[in-house]
Amino acid sequence: MDNKPSIAIIGAGYVGLVSSVCFAELGFKVICVDKDQNKIKKLQDGHPAIYEPDLAPLLQDNLVKEHLRFSGVLSEAVLKSDVIFIAVGTPIKDDTAADTSEVEAVTKEIAPLLKCYKVIVVKSTVPVGTCVKLSKIILNLNHHAQFDMVSNPEFLRAGSGIQDFMTPDRIILGVETTRADEIMSNLYRYFINKKIPIVRTTLESAELIKYIANSFLAMKVAFVNEISSLCEKLNTDLNDVLRGISLDHRIGRDYLQPGPGFGGSCLNKDALTLTHMAKMVNVPITIIEAVLASNIKHKKRIIEKIVDACCGSVANKRLAILGIAFKANTDDIRESPALYLISELLSQGALLNLYDPVVKKVAFNLNVYWGQDVYDTLTESDVVIIMTEWDEFRHLDLKKVKSILRNTAIEPTLIDLRNLYSPQAVIAEGIRYYSIGKLTEKIA
Ligand SMILES: NC(=O)c1ccc[n+]([C@@H]2O[C@H](COP(=O)([O-])OP(=O)(O)OC[C@H]3O[C@@H](n4cnc5c(N)ncnc54)[C@H](O)[C@@H]3O)[C@@H](O)[C@H]2O)c1
Repeated sequence: MDNKPSIAIIGAGYVGLVSSVCFAELGFKVICVDKDQNKIKKLQDGHPAIYEPDLAPLLQDNLVKEHLRFSGVLSEAVLKSDVIFIAVGTPIKDDTAADTSEVEAVTKEIAPLLKCYKVIVVKSTVPVGTCVKLSKIILNLNHHAQFDMVSNPEFLRAGSGIQDFMTPDRIILGVETTRADEIMSNLYRYFINKKIPIVRTTLESAELIKYIANSFLAMKVAFVNEISSLCEKLNTDLNDVLRGISLDHRIGRDYLQPGPGFGGSCLNKDALTLTHMAKMVNVPITIIEAVLASNIKHKKRIIEKIVDACCGSVANKRLAILGIAFKANTDDIRESPALYLISELLSQGALLNLYDPVVKKVAFNLNVYWGQDVYDTLTESDVVIIMTEWDEFRHLDLKKVKSILRNTAIEPTLIDLRNLYSPQAVIAEGIRYYSIGKLTEKIA
């Protein structure tokens, strides 16, 4: 094996695809495999199956350079590679913890193919003990398998995946043999040269780090959301409070942005899995249990805010919702707070117009109107709700918004759940303004 290992990445989702493209960009030969043949066909034609900034040109460039290939055949990729990354999904099962069945299924497929030494790297987020369990699965199926198992959890975020992968704060390597460590060091040489910290640990510690990191981030979001509600009740301004606390360098400002509740495929799942793992060993992490409960409560409070803005009922009122993705710059709608909001408002009899720059109506089977653009979405609406912080929602023509919104049972109203606007600017246009934790009553 030369010092540039060849790579197979199993799973062409947000993590697998971004990792494949980035490793290819760093000059490695990468074969990315997925069981979804439609996805593979599109990828072979240069079309990413997900929306991620900068992904498409890098993908196309690396296909042309022949650094990157896509395949539906796992065996071919495994046999031709030195390092095999597992990057398949670990969704929540039975509302309790991550389901590792996809990771296990891939491991069972790999096991009989390990005829010469390979490094198996688990990039999927998996509960503590999974890597050891996967090693046992392999050895049960193939007594002669030559391999080392490595845990290398991924921290990229949907919406900034390429940038996060190429400029990580740190790389976690759960690696327990010198041979695997050398190969992983060659794989991450570019980052080592850039002085990105590499944290080498046991397999179990690496697995746990990912859960602790995401649970901590979830805690920060839940914290700021609860504080926002307190600010509203105490007639104080969240912005002032945040500025007042964040200048303390021990606190800082990162991840203290209020919103409609945390969502996405990771925070809720990982916090839930952490609480489950902790209960299993009789060390309940009550603070993270409270974070999960707080997020549910916050999403309910958001519905109350909307009902309140609609004079006590949303029944038969038409609301325009801007943004379905769980955050800007992604088409990922998994656990998006918008989904909860939409189903709750529909169940209360609201009529909905929806718009998102990249999430299109094919994603739902709902009886709603999908706007062509922002202003078309406002047509016939009483109220507009900003759910996602897409750039195009930051610069609305407020005069146009006022002229399109109806002024019947409710005065034209903007409910800004990402705090994108200054209350003064909106109110000056004759639009009622609701936000998260900002002082609006005093201004009006
Ligand atoms: N999405 C994120 O932002 C993010 C960030 C960090 C970590 N993670 C973790 O990374 C893992 C993957 O997440 P994701 O969002 O990329 O998932 P995803 O659902 O977007 O992609 C998973 C892919 O794996 C494929 N797959 C499943 N079984 C397969 C098999 N047997 N053979 C080949 N392909 C198979 C699926 O078809 C799918 O394309 C999860 O554990 C997740 O928690 C996700």
